[in-house]
Amino acid sequence: MKRFGVSIEDHLLEEVDSLVKKNQLPNRSQAIRFLIRKNLVRDKWEGNKEVSGCIVLVYDHHKRDLLNKSVDIQHKYQNLVLSTQHVHLDHNNCLETITLKGKAKELRDLSDKLIALKGMKHGELVMSTIG
Ligand code: NI
Repeated sequence: MKRFGVSIEDHLLEEVDSLVKKNQLPNRSQAIRFLIRKNLVRDKWEGNKEVSGCIVLVYDHHKRDLLNKSVDIQHKYQNLVLSTQHVHLDHNNCLETITLKGKAKELRDLSDKLIALKGMKHGELVMSTIG
């Protein structure tokens, strides 16, 4: 770990402090690291680099058509899928977490296709990085 001094305008420092508060970060250093990492992850995704991520889906498992289509799509992109976890939330609803690794554009394509399926209640792609 290295230390370095940063000159920053008052209003920007206030933004850093509100980020610390909002995200329950322990201090300003952690907030700066958080922003840098976020920026690095964004650049990797925009540059179609090798990334990792996670798709969260919520759907009604009685909708068999949706289920079949989701499985078909996931098989087509099986080279990206590291794992899937299925949790039965209640009588109707299932929550699925699909963990992925691969080129950013392909992860986005897979995510878009799944989230757009007719009857999908909620879907979100969490964009992360390999390290
Ligand atoms: Ni289920």
